[in-house]
Amino acid sequence: MYKSQFPIFQKEIINYLDTAASAQKPRVVIDEMVRFYQESYANVHRGSCHLATEATLAYEESRKTVAKFINAPEKQVIFTKGATESFNLIANGYQSLLKKDDEILVSIEEHHANFVPWQQVALKTGAKFVTFDILDNGEIDMDDFEKKLSSKTKIVAITHLSNVLGIVNPIKQIIQKAHKVNAKVVVDAAQSIAHMPIDVQELDCDFLAFSSHKLYGPTGIGVLYGKKDALALLSPYQYGGDMVQTVLPHESEFKEIPHKFEAGTPPFVEAVGLKKAIEFIDDISMEEVFRHERALTSYLITALNKIEEVEILAPNENKSGIVGFVVHGIHPTDIAFILAQQNICIRVGHHCAMPLHHRLGHEVSIRVSLGIYNEKEDIDIFIQSLQKSISFFKR
Ligand code: ALA
Repeated sequence: MYKSQFPIFQKEIINYLDTAASAQKPRVVIDEMVRFYQESYANVHRGSCHLATEATLAYEESRKTVAKFINAPEKQVIFTKGATESFNLIANGYQSLLKKDDEILVSIEEHHANFVPWQQVALKTGAKFVTFDILDNGEIDMDDFEKKLSSKTKIVAITHLSNVLGIVNPIKQIIQKAHKVNAKVVVDAAQSIAHMPIDVQELDCDFLAFSSHKLYGPTGIGVLYGKKDALALLSPYQYGGDMVQTVLPHESEFKEIPHKFEAGTPPFVEAVGLKKAIEFIDDISMEEVFRHERALTSYLITALNKIEEVEILAPNENKSGIVGFVVHGIHPTDIAFILAQQNICIRVGHHCAMPLHHRLGHEVSIRVSLGIYNEKEDIDIFIQSLQKSISFFKR
């Protein structure tokens, strides 16, 4: 139903089931970026010609659109180059805030982007890096979380929606508990942003990050939202043009947030593309995206469950758009090889979540991830091909 709005599906006969890695782009996003390059291009926050003024307005309009999309105050939306940079920005700021005996509490299912920066900050500051577990059904082990949460905990890092298991975590509950011990909570919304409505004020999270490219927008731009007091704790992550108010020979004064965290020429064409992507999703409505993908995910799980050799990682009804699994007796790479020959795009590997795979007792897995353009037919074709490849390798 929505496929016709994505040019790639007109050019290629492709079964794209790898949206968790990156979403395809609707025509409106591509057209808008081309139009901007052809008609409105000039650097932002600098020039005095009308193009520069228009570009600056467009960049700041995009910030407004993002802010509205996640219900954030506009000035608390910082553009970065992606979710990874957003996490690094926060972690870098915490290097001067953490000390020995402080603890950083990170879920075992984090993507490396919200795991490694904290691990490295712990190594540099002497703070203790502590992980909390999941249950075998993929849900957060709340007992383990509460056992490990203490007055020593300064940061809790948690994904909203696992990029391997597809399970939505009880973020609000986790945030409430973390706030009781005055810990700040860093939410990875890299996956959830494309699958469900997000309201940062309702969640009450301290920080939340996502990338545009998983939300049908361009690569090269991401978002960091932070509460005012949380952002105020951080020093700039990068220094240079545009983020300074005054530069004297031996000292500089920085601009207000968000500009203080946006050194150099920002990804303003990408911001224009991201704005269009959000408008595209808003036109469909995030509730409809959620409903469509939930229904497809259930359809996929039902079909996978009928294949004897398939073991879904962390079986759970509460999956949205992402299903990880293994096939007993066949290496995931072999399956992916056969499917790739039939233009079926899935992802095989540890999906940047090695600690999670270790916890589940698998080195790698196969992941199918869905987007708004997928239809039941894509899943039927994938299941048929999967069955054929299993039969082939079993022979
Ligand atoms: N973070 C992306 C994924 O999970 C790349 O595939």
